[in-house]
Amino acid sequence: MIMFPTGLLSLALWLTLTGSTLAVVQSESPPVKYPLKVGVVGSPPFSSYTNQTFKGISVELWQELAANTNLKYQFIAQPGVKTGINRVTSGELDVLIGPISITAARFKRVTFTQPYFKAQIGLLVSGESPSVWNRIKPLFQVAVISSVGGLFVILFIVGNLIWIAESRRNEEQFPKSYFRGVGNGIWFALVTLTTVGYGDKAPVTKTGKAVTSIWMLITMVAASSLTAGIATVMTLLLSQDHTEQFTQLQDLQGKQIAVVTGTTGAEWAKNYQARLLESPNLEGAIERLKSGKAKGVMFDVPALKYYLYQHPDAAFRIANLSISLEDYGFVLPLNSQLVREINLALIQLKESGRVEEIIEREIQGVSQE
Ligand code: SER
Repeated sequence: MIMFPTGLLSLALWLTLTGSTLAVVQSESPPVKYPLKVGVVGSPPFSSYTNQTFKGISVELWQELAANTNLKYQFIAQPGVKTGINRVTSGELDVLIGPISITAARFKRVTFTQPYFKAQIGLLVSGESPSVWNRIKPLFQVAVISSVGGLFVILFIVGNLIWIAESRRNEEQFPKSYFRGVGNGIWFALVTLTTVGYGDKAPVTKTGKAVTSIWMLITMVAASSLTAGIATVMTLLLSQDHTEQFTQLQDLQGKQIAVVTGTTGAEWAKNYQARLLESPNLEGAIERLKSGKAKGVMFDVPALKYYLYQHPDAAFRIANLSISLEDYGFVLPLNSQLVREINLALIQLKESGRVEEIIEREIQGVSQE
């Protein structure tokens, strides 16, 4: 057992006591003043502010939660998630509500309530079906044109070889006149290549037969690769994926992507090295897509789906990309005295099925993901 001299023991005791007192003082936050200043941020279906009225899932959830706990509050519209969180840290706001994703970076600066919703981050892209020209364009690429050109050159060479071998002894089928003779030679090479074998022309000389034998062996392999190649090209041309710009996350690299400033969508787009076009809100970001300046809008899927639901004629769709799955929570200052009370009320609302009911009613059939 370690023995402390009495003086040292009292010093240790004093330090421990003062330490814990300091810790208590540090963990204390200023007393809460009512009505609470509740910032509202985000987009429908979670929050909106029109005609001096706040609406949406997050707003309704808060209203019910506050009614159950007798909290007096006033709503204050916020321009963005980042600004709202900054105002919570500076003490300007007591709470921030909306579709606010719980992230580690934010968690270092503020407290989050229990999550009340799970949302995907997605990419809204132009949904116009590709034109006929766009679909057949690949057929005119250099690679395709040069292969077809190469094939004609080979047919021409074989046609010449056959003509040279046959024209002297087989003039009837391969006339001495260059154009007619070589023309027949090319026709013969083509008929052999395609394995059609009309039999209207056939070599009679040994050299002619040798050239034809080699050509037949080559075409046996060439014909099957040609068939496979054509089948692949046709499958690609007919498939939707062929014209799909974003089939994997790497496709985002270097592309102009519209985002809302300070949101997690903007963070993800940056992570995947997209070229960010920032807007203060979702409407602004969608405008960028409409004008063709952006190739996509990276944002929360529920808000994107809600937009599509509200604008059924919009030629947009959500790309088949899995970017991130995030929990939404409300924001409170670090060491907030309200967090326990609010969490308790929130969990009670979840357990009673009220959260589900509010979400169902607000989303009105827009499927959640
Ligand atoms: N969920 C997004 C965020 O918190 C914005 O809607 O950044």
